[in-house]
Amino acid sequence: MKLYEQVANQVKERIDLGYYKTGDKLPSVRGLSQEHGVSISTVQEAYGLLIDDAVVEARPKSGYYVLQQQQPPELPAVSSPAPKPLVVAQWQKLQHMIGEYGRQDLVKLSLALPDMESPTLQPLTRLISQISRQETQRIFNYEFATGSVELCHQIARLAIDSGSRLNPDEIIITSGCQEALSCSLRAVTEPGDIVVVDSPSFFGSVQAIKINGVKALEIPTHPETGISLDALEMALEQWPIKACLLTPTNNNPLGYTMPDENKIRLLELLSHYDIPLIEDDIYGDLSYHLPRPRTIRSFDTEGRVMLCSSFSKTLVPGLRVGWVAPGRYYEHVKMTKYLTSLSTSTLSQPVVSEFIAQGYYEKHLRRMRKNYLRDRDTMIGLLKRYLPDGTRISYPQGGYLLWVELPGHVDTNELNTLARAQGISIAPGTLFSASGKYKNCMRICCVNSDSPEIEPAIARLGELCHELLAGSLLPE
Ligand SMILES: Cc1ncc(COP(=O)(O)O)c(C=O)c1O
Repeated sequence: MKLYEQVANQVKERIDLGYYKTGDKLPSVRGLSQEHGVSISTVQEAYGLLIDDAVVEARPKSGYYVLQQQQPPELPAVSSPAPKPLVVAQWQKLQHMIGEYGRQDLVKLSLALPDMESPTLQPLTRLISQISRQETQRIFNYEFATGSVELCHQIARLAIDSGSRLNPDEIIITSGCQEALSCSLRAVTEPGDIVVVDSPSFFGSVQAIKINGVKALEIPTHPETGISLDALEMALEQWPIKACLLTPTNNNPLGYTMPDENKIRLLELLSHYDIPLIEDDIYGDLSYHLPRPRTIRSFDTEGRVMLCSSFSKTLVPGLRVGWVAPGRYYEHVKMTKYLTSLSTSTLSQPVVSEFIAQGYYEKHLRRMRKNYLRDRDTMIGLLKRYLPDGTRISYPQGGYLLWVELPGHVDTNELNTLARAQGISIAPGTLFSASGKYKNCMRICCVNSDSPEIEPAIARLGELCHELLAGSLLPE
């Protein structure tokens, strides 16, 4: 840990222990520098980190003050999915939601879209036009099936932050993370096989399981620590499981991040039963606090983990740049990728590669982490204010998605139909399960939750929930 991180941690500890309360003035830069025997600039960096983490604010000509902290909400219950493999349903409902991508007339709380208007994305536009002009012949051609060498190099460099030592030639560039997940699944399963997933689970993974003719075995999942490893162990003893597919860091939709000890134990279990793990790390770089959590891949010494990610959530989804480091399954994934789409967009790859190489990616992430943390807290505040008592909300430590569990028998499919008629969309909980569980849950995207249209939308959702709740309490 760097010196300024140590100083920041100590200040944060004093706030957590209640020595400094909301609005209190914190020790001066000079005072802290003398106390810790570090330079003024180290203390300034420490305060910078605490400002990024929305713990502290700087008041001009006055000093540093403790910011109001959002109290963690009451968390959703640990899930209890069906203890048997299921054929995946829900495709019709998902199609309905995918149809919303281009709609301008909806407040789209349903979609997991990043902030695409941040000024830190501007270099992307410049790079797109510069590369299209200067490298016409290159971008008109196919790229290697495994992707641009420069981009693989940049991805390997970034992976160091998640504890992984990847070699650029272990990486295959894909059209988004969805293709990385699909190719990985296809490489290690056959129709009829069983794959373990968390529950609730990202609908793209669940549908990739469906399209590959595989069955999903959903494992009980804790909203903070992820899948129950005891339940997984029992499932491994009972069923001929062929793979495990998880988003263990800043999970979509439940928001959990598995602690390192769980990540290690999971890997030991999978190693014991000789099962590959498809690790989706698409939100990993959006962790609010640094250092970001390690990937499970970073603990893997056997090439068992197929690490998948993309720039769809950190930058923009439209460039369709994703990747997979498939470990010992490399050749199989490479063939699957080639047979699925030959290669990934030749223009998008140098654009992303240059964006990273020129330092824009890190700058953009710094801003986004801070904004998404603020967005999370703003949205939790709104949900607590407007949704019925007894609502439970996830408390992710990264990304921009919240899982909301409503009280009583509120059916979020019904809620969505009513809300859409009023220009608001949510992602109903049933999309996130192979069997259509989680009727009383929904996923909410909280990007830019302080924009003017959001509070009225949440207030309206709240009214609809109260009406549905009242209706559901009426005798049949
Ligand atoms: C957890 C997770 N994995 C994969 C994807 C697909 O990502 P991409 O757009 O890069 O294909 C998404 C998109 O929502 C996601 O949330």
